[in-house]
Amino acid sequence: MAKITVSVIKADVGGYVGHCSMHPDLIATAETRLGPQKESGRLIDFKVLCCGDDLELIMTHTFGVEDEAIHRLAWDVFVECTETARKLKLYGVGQDLLKDAFTGTIKGMGPGVAEMEFEERKSEPIVIFMADKTSPGAWNLPLFKIFADPFNTAGIVIDPSMHEGFKFKILDIRAGKSITLSCPEEMYDLLMFIGSTGRYLVKDIYRKTDGEIAATASTQKLSLIAGKYVGKDDPVMIVRCQSGLPAVGEVLEPFSFPHLVSGWMRGSHCGPLMPVSFCEANPSRFDGPPRVIAAGFQLSDGKLVGPRDIFADVSFDEARKEANRVANYMRRHGPFEPHRLGPEDMEYTTMPHIMEKLKDRFE
Ligand code: F6R
Ligand code: MG
Ligand code: MG
Repeated sequence: MAKITVSVIKADVGGYVGHCSMHPDLIATAETRLGPQKESGRLIDFKVLCCGDDLELIMTHTFGVEDEAIHRLAWDVFVECTETARKLKLYGVGQDLLKDAFTGTIKGMGPGVAEMEFEERKSEPIVIFMADKTSPGAWNLPLFKIFADPFNTAGIVIDPSMHEGFKFKILDIRAGKSITLSCPEEMYDLLMFIGSTGRYLVKDIYRKTDGEIAATASTQKLSLIAGKYVGKDDPVMIVRCQSGLPAVGEVLEPFSFPHLVSGWMRGSHCGPLMPVSFCEANPSRFDGPPRVIAAGFQLSDGKLVGPRDIFADVSFDEARKEANRVANYMRRHGPFEPHRLGPEDMEYTTMPHIMEKLKDRFE
């Protein structure tokens, strides 16, 4: 069997209502466009999901990562969905499509991309995480816990095939450089970087014993691409599970702690990441709090058996309650840091205007 590629490509091409949610017609448009691609055999399978105002295309095929035709297909789907959004006068039509025409890769054009290629195992459980009203740094903490924290993942202590640990490829999004660090021996170096979630992002994770890819995350930063505020770069990631990789339960466990992430209202606030079921992924309170959904699949020769809506489980009720409590607490800070992000992380650049207006009054 040829290697399978899982491509998750997402964009916000119009919100319903405001930036809160997805209109069903956009999902229908995407499915109508992708259906024939599966019939013709170009795609093995696909699913169209949504998280908040983000349209999520999950596709399997055999063309490898960064395949031009697959990226063009995703781009064309988003362009068509933009037309549907335009007819309905949805909010922020074509928001994440930053370029006019496709030029070989969808990377750097606005949509978020997470892709991995691997040989499908005898049984291949994967979990695809999708978040809204936050940014890719939101994955750093859970990825660290899943692949490096023995208090989270029992397997790194007691499963011989994982005991060597994992390698983390991290990206410095300001310098445009990457470095790969090895856990557990370089753990403190790793934390020095990835604790700084606005700049250093975990991109890929590999099992040390054989170099097998275990996880990959989208790392696009729309604000850096466009050079100005153009909306949030709501992230996605793919995690492979079980049989020498963290168990599904170990992969989900970090989300029982609704950790603080950047995003929320106007992409300029700090708030808890709330794990929710698909139908609760509609961030409405102060455009939030930020949400994450988890879609579980068994791959079967590339077919996507699923999705299982994994956070639709009572064991995450307490995390949701805690997230709501933390949301109340954070909201009470109003425009004060740390609820409002520091100037370099805010997606609004109001300060220079105010400074210009008031500069002569500084004594
Ligand atoms: C955050 C987000 C929303 C908007 C806010 C203002 O990522 O998408 O919180 O920033 O609703 O939106 P505009 O400026 O489009 O009215
Ligand atoms: Mg939007
Ligand atoms: Mg969004």
